[in-house]
Amino acid sequence: MPDIPPANAPSLDAYWMPFTANRQFKAAPRLLSAAQGMYYTSVDGREVLDGTAGLWCVNAGHGRRQISEAVARQLDTMDYAPSFQMGHPIAFDFAERLAAIAPGGPAAGLDRVFFAGSGSEAVDTALKIAVAYQRATGQGTRTRLIGRERGYHGVGFGGISVGGLVNNRRVFPQLPGTDHLRHTHDPARNAFSRGLPEHGAELADDLERLVALHGAETIAAVIVEPVAGSTGVLLPPVNYLERLREICTRHGILLIFDEVITGFGRLGAPFAVDYFGVVPDLVTTAKGLTNGCIPMGAVFASRAVHDALMHGPEAQIELFHGYTYSGHPVACAAGLAALDIYAGEGLLTRAGDIAPDWSEAMHSLRGLPHVIDIRTIGLVAGIELASRDGAAGERAYDLFVDCFERGLLIRVTGDIVALSPPLIAETGHIDRIVSTLGEALKRLA
Ligand SMILES: Cc1ncc(COP(=O)(O)O)c(C=O)c1O
Repeated sequence: MPDIPPANAPSLDAYWMPFTANRQFKAAPRLLSAAQGMYYTSVDGREVLDGTAGLWCVNAGHGRRQISEAVARQLDTMDYAPSFQMGHPIAFDFAERLAAIAPGGPAAGLDRVFFAGSGSEAVDTALKIAVAYQRATGQGTRTRLIGRERGYHGVGFGGISVGGLVNNRRVFPQLPGTDHLRHTHDPARNAFSRGLPEHGAELADDLERLVALHGAETIAAVIVEPVAGSTGVLLPPVNYLERLREICTRHGILLIFDEVITGFGRLGAPFAVDYFGVVPDLVTTAKGLTNGCIPMGAVFASRAVHDALMHGPEAQIELFHGYTYSGHPVACAAGLAALDIYAGEGLLTRAGDIAPDWSEAMHSLRGLPHVIDIRTIGLVAGIELASRDGAAGERAYDLFVDCFERGLLIRVTGDIVALSPPLIAETGHIDRIVSTLGEALKRLA
């Protein structure tokens, strides 16, 4: 008989963990074993407040019975069905329901939906659709893809090529024909801004520089996160996104918003498109699409983009792209149930109601040791700490461990704390986040 480890003390050897210092983790693991509402339970039975909605995805909170029942029903009814040259009603239903709440509303026309299995796949899908669109409209020289420094678009080769986080790029080869806009982080002018940073709209003009350098006729698309999340919550300066849209339109460049984090209510509007009133040509989503409980991604495409590809002989496949799990019936069931919860509880706009209190609470941490900037929007916050000399990231990591030990899950990236609790958070939860974090900051070396 092999040794069977007790359920709560698994062997840690086999699992090669993603985006984790594996050896450090396995020497002192942090393991979660249950989740309900706003809380996780750790394997040693402690309650841990979820300050991050998992990884920005569990927007309606954990353990939603409506979703688990829908998933169980779908598994019993039809566990899987192929999506190539075959269909199943629930994928069409889910696409229609998404189209009905599509970013920007009916006027934006972003109501054609391509399903993927994750945010990274949604990003690669959107990039490929953009290039295919340009070719279909007689602009085959437009293959270049522009991202932005400090952007995060997942970990596919497409996503890292347009992404702008050096650690995700330095080891790996990238797509030829990409370039990057400058990032918008400008603490010298914008630190501790309330609302959007006032300075920096002119950074959108960096696209003009790239047009002058490469020629507009080589550029297919620009992709940006409307609010950059993974790099540590960078808000777009006032008028930046508007200006980027205008320059893209002027040069025939498609604009892609990566809303994998901002989609489904995080900012207090259903999508960042709605929040900012700026309409791109393609929108990528994932995470909150299924409340994080079944992996799935989706791209919203404008009718103009979609329709341009619906040409040629009808028997011909229009886009040679798709995944085994595109439109997975179980993921669709989870997504439909998540949309019902979001609608029933007003969660796609609720963050807007609590945003003023959230912002006030976060800014109350100003003046505590090491805090050099605080940024909030919707139910998101970035709290930037001064780095230790020669040891970038260590200070925030220590804070993360301390908070976890005291019952609060935060996320850190470099020396920035990123907070994004489930959208069901109440005042008491926010107070607890602030007090736990505040005490931890005071203890922090
Ligand atoms: C903006 C953005 N795009 C893409 C991704 C990648 O999503 P996934 O991890 O589901 O592949 C993420 C993940 O955090 C993200 O924040």
